[in-house]
Amino acid sequence: MAFEPEFLDSALAAISSAGTLAELDRVRVHWLGRQGILSEAFRQLATLSGAERSAAGQGLNRARDAIEEAIRKRRESLESDDVQRQLARKRVDVTLPGRGVLPGALHPLTQARLLIENHFQGSGFTIATGPEIEDDFHNFTALNMGPDHPARAAHDTFYLDPGSILLRTHTSPVQVRALRRWGPPLRIMAPGRVYRRDSDLTHTPMFHQVEGLVVDREISWAEMTGLLSDFLHAFFTEGLKIRFRPSYFPFTEPSAEVDLECFFCAQKGCRVCKQSGWIEVLGCGLVHPEVFRQSGVDPGEWSGLAFGMGIERLAMLKYRIGDIRWFYDNDLRFLTPRPAASGS
Ligand code: DAH
Repeated sequence: MAFEPEFLDSALAAISSAGTLAELDRVRVHWLGRQGILSEAFRQLATLSGAERSAAGQGLNRARDAIEEAIRKRRESLESDDVQRQLARKRVDVTLPGRGVLPGALHPLTQARLLIENHFQGSGFTIATGPEIEDDFHNFTALNMGPDHPARAAHDTFYLDPGSILLRTHTSPVQVRALRRWGPPLRIMAPGRVYRRDSDLTHTPMFHQVEGLVVDREISWAEMTGLLSDFLHAFFTEGLKIRFRPSYFPFTEPSAEVDLECFFCAQKGCRVCKQSGWIEVLGCGLVHPEVFRQSGVDPGEWSGLAFGMGIERLAMLKYRIGDIRWFYDNDLRFLTPRPAASGS
């Protein structure tokens, strides 16, 4: 089959009517492919005689060039249409108002813990940790609560293995672990989770404590009251009245509980202070010699002070949170910055 000039017109018409790149490619294969019309026409040249063959050959070459050029142009135009279409589809309306980014804040428990940690780190304390799954020895026995000690009953312990493995009921076992690991002198604080079988307005089965321990050659009661008064004034309000009320803990002797003047009612008596005018905030004392002995420390040579406080309790008082369970309800308002006026 000879290549007739009108073929070129129909090739060009097919090219210009190709509406997509895929269609254009089909047209290209149809005309220029190895089995295509032009290839076939080139093969037909062999059947022509010399002069005819050269004229027809030149014609075919020109036709091929014209088709290739037309395809190239059409492809460019389709490609740019394609880009335009994609741009149109993905168009961003820059005039739309933004969705807004909610500023976040640290959870109040984290804020309280950081304040406590920063304060004591400023007084030379380092942070120590211990396991939440404890053994009876560290949680009780080494803290001067032997197997039959009545104070164990007050702890409402979760046992994993009755009598031996438990969820720690306080952070005090870290005292024993730190002393056995590093020995005196020592100045540590141990923040962490503790567990008790308890649940109401002011108790959750899991809560947080910070333990403090200072061991050196001559630690005095005055050093302890000074250290804790400084902390409470920094954490709450400078000048707040503080009292050390004699108390009992098996692992300290003497022991005290520390009360703050009730700043909710100016000591007139309210629900928070149970009409007493005082709010209990922590426990403390001088380390009991038995704790030293159980921790491999000579009580004749070393002395120490210890204290323990509940982070939830301190945060509830500082941020005026009425129910301990709110800490764990995932209410987004707990993660929203508070207005500066309502305290740091
Ligand atoms: N471990 C005590 C508790 O959970 C708190 C405590 C009291 C810790 C007195 C101490 C301390 O280190 O000296 O109630």
